[in-house]
Amino acid sequence: MTQSLHRHRTKLALLLSLLGFNAVAVGEVEFLHWWTSNGERKALSVLDEHLIHSSLSVSTSSVLGGGGDSAMTVLQARALAGNTPSFAQIEGPSIKSWDAIGILHNINAVAKQHQWDDVLYPLTIDINRTQNGYVALPLTLHRLNWLWVNHQLLNKLGLEAPKTWPDMFDAMQKARQEGIMPLAIGKQPWQIAQLFESLVIASGGVDFYNTVLVDLNKNNIDSDQMRHALKQFRRLSELLEVSEESVNSTELSNQKWDTATAALANNEALFQLGGDWILGELLAENISVPSHIGCYPAPQSHNIFLYNMDSFIFMKSKSFTQDDAIQLANALADKEFQTRFNQVKGSIPVRSDIDLSSFNPCQIQSYKDFNYAIEHGLAAPSMTDSMAVNPMAQQAINSEIFRYYRDSSVTEGEVIKRIISIAESN
Ligand code: GAL
Repeated sequence: MTQSLHRHRTKLALLLSLLGFNAVAVGEVEFLHWWTSNGERKALSVLDEHLIHSSLSVSTSSVLGGGGDSAMTVLQARALAGNTPSFAQIEGPSIKSWDAIGILHNINAVAKQHQWDDVLYPLTIDINRTQNGYVALPLTLHRLNWLWVNHQLLNKLGLEAPKTWPDMFDAMQKARQEGIMPLAIGKQPWQIAQLFESLVIASGGVDFYNTVLVDLNKNNIDSDQMRHALKQFRRLSELLEVSEESVNSTELSNQKWDTATAALANNEALFQLGGDWILGELLAENISVPSHIGCYPAPQSHNIFLYNMDSFIFMKSKSFTQDDAIQLANALADKEFQTRFNQVKGSIPVRSDIDLSSFNPCQIQSYKDFNYAIEHGLAAPSMTDSMAVNPMAQQAINSEIFRYYRDSSVTEGEVIKRIISIAESN
């Protein structure tokens, strides 16, 4: 919410009270999130516009750093200091951890009013409901195993969109030889780790992925499929690290994910692998999807739906009461708002009763693939994007994977041993 909007609202409330209208006292609520790219900010404006009609005035505190690691660190520090925001963006199992320490408002009344038990997907209910009932409001369902393809460069290279990793490596090799950046990626641990997630799925399928990165099963971590995924990952790092020197590319190291998306959209890069927040970014920049940039399942992950979900938690404090939480959650549970927000964000809705016919073709494909995956046990939570294990284990594993990617002296055996020791302490 911009400050000027906030000032207008306060003046409006004052004017209404002077004119004798019983304007509801404008409550001040603070929202903590990590949506800072153009596409994410455009989705946020849908939220701002929607909340203008509620009597709550929202100020936002954004934390830089896609993926949410930094935002979660800030949230923990603020909770320890007794200075929580009114509501915060959050993902996956940490919802249950926050509920367990008793600082979340319960929103069962909202769930009842909006028939969440009937309209939410079962996995959405599992993520946002605890033994205390609903303690988080679900908003987006993102698919992560997408390959985004620049069709202009693909045609220039005389290639087809790769369905397997051997074809993917061939295509990236050819792009490098032609001086084109093979794969746009911001070199941050969570983004690099997401590449590895794709290779684990490609190496052993969704069941193998679940045993290794969701269940952290030691025997499967120390396995031939894992070593195969690590070999492919090393090959990818050599190709991408070398190609950064050899092609005329903007230095992507430590760049944010949306800088990589800009390289893809501007015909500097052939591919980008990542979640459909990338679609939200492309749509915000008026890039034509799927004609200019196409969306394809990540190689060897057809029919699989690797997901993460954005939810909001409402945090108890003197300045943010249970009534405030119910009022705010009621507004955010609105079906029309949820439809518009997801359409702009690039995700699909978390509820099954929304018509997607006006969504982008990639979102319609995501919706179809999600329903197929749910029916056939092919949907999996993203470990690197906070959906599968506790944040400590997630960040520790992500950093080991990042270290292996950046340091060729780290062996397969060493990274496997380190991930197993994290699994044992989990
Ligand atoms: C994810 C989040 C998405 C998206 C992405 C990049 O963790 O769920 O909404 O914004 O980070 O920041």
